[in-house]
Amino acid sequence: MTDHPDKLMDKLVSLAKRRGFVFQSSEIYGGIGSVYDYGPLGAELKNNIRDAWWEAMVHRRPDIEGLEAGILMHPDVWVASGHVGGFTDPLVECRSCHRRFRADELDEIAAGRPEAQQCPVCGTTGEFTEPRQFNLMFKTFMGAVEEEASTVYLRPETAQGTYVNFKNVQESARQKIPFGIAQIGKAFRNEITPGNFIYRTREFEQMEMQFFVKPGTEDEWFDYWSEQRMEWLVSLGIRRDRLRMHEHGPDELAHYAKKAFDIQYLFPFGWQEFEGIHNRTDYDLTSHQDQSGKKLEYFDPASNERFLPYVVETAIGLNRTLLVVLADAYAEETVNDEERVVLRLHPKLAPTKAAIFPLVKKDGMPELAGEVADGLRAHFPVFYDAAGSIGRRYRRQDEAGTPFCVTIDGQSTEDRTVTVRDRDTLEQVRVPVNSLETFLSDRITEASA
Ligand code: GAP
Repeated sequence: MTDHPDKLMDKLVSLAKRRGFVFQSSEIYGGIGSVYDYGPLGAELKNNIRDAWWEAMVHRRPDIEGLEAGILMHPDVWVASGHVGGFTDPLVECRSCHRRFRADELDEIAAGRPEAQQCPVCGTTGEFTEPRQFNLMFKTFMGAVEEEASTVYLRPETAQGTYVNFKNVQESARQKIPFGIAQIGKAFRNEITPGNFIYRTREFEQMEMQFFVKPGTEDEWFDYWSEQRMEWLVSLGIRRDRLRMHEHGPDELAHYAKKAFDIQYLFPFGWQEFEGIHNRTDYDLTSHQDQSGKKLEYFDPASNERFLPYVVETAIGLNRTLLVVLADAYAEETVNDEERVVLRLHPKLAPTKAAIFPLVKKDGMPELAGEVADGLRAHFPVFYDAAGSIGRRYRRQDEAGTPFCVTIDGQSTEDRTVTVRDRDTLEQVRVPVNSLETFLSDRITEASA
């Protein structure tokens, strides 16, 4: 189905654990459904993806402001957003296309014949989960007494924190429409069918941007953001031929969306949603204005008009991006008659930028290697490794996606030069210790978008 190596998902899960990218949560207790922990390399990779998004969406954009809203919000937020009302019916899910339906709206299921029920979306028959009273949102209680009045929800999207802060951000940052608000943060969904490793989980992190525009201009902004987001993904080194746009049909649209495109990625398990671009109209601002009784209109000084802006949203999962980055970077190849697994991570994203090896553990090489590692560590993450043959050490770093390996050999202690090996081309060059940091930094930045 894809041009990924055979059994790639199994290999990724195994590599992720072996090398400290991703662990199952609470593993020593047998794990907990669909929650994952990020190890030393995973936490670093996640931070690097997060930073790349923030840099592209906030630091480089005079028309976008950053925000960090709380995970817990006033419960009325979720009434206004449609999440409280929208997810309290008995639901069944088609195991084939993962669409959910109200059990009482499917004739055969309502009549007690689930085996005869055809999925209205994909047409598969008899593949429905048992009906269950299902709310997508996790509930918890605020305060000491577990009573209904203190029920709060773990947010299922970051977007609502942005809508309720629209006025605060617009006025404090003195932004004029069109402008955007970007946010990165945790979201929680009690998914009926999580799966495919970190693709769909119950706790995850979103990177979302809400762009507020004048009604009537939303279509051009929608096209603009669709293109921008695609180019950003390509700038991370993700192969363009594994990305495509999919427009939502009327039966796929979320309750808030008038128009939606998914950027899909060709995962090892097929084409699936990676990022969403949504025209949310003034749905959310109108609902919050009605529910809260507070005016959320924008006053346009140029035209002397007051209006509720329309919103074009870009929404991507950070964990899902990490999965795509790993899947896309993974390669198996033969080098000098030896098999190697290599993660061709973009140097900007690589958790470790360089590994430092003394060729042998004597003749002053470990001391110089230690000095080199300490010098570089002030600029970017490096890893010191003196254990095993040099070949084995290379293999370990190839698997971790480290773009450069620096070896300190006999010549190094004489003339203070080292060899730098490039993970992808396997070329080795000799570089003086005193210009090593600049040499590596230039290459890491050169490769960056
Ligand atoms: N604010 C709009 C929104 O939340 P969405 O399409 O439901 O839209 C946006 O989610 C993105 O968040 C998805 O494209 C996906 O990358 C990520 N995402 C959604 N649910 C997820 C889950 N259960 N696990 C991991 N990532 C998820």
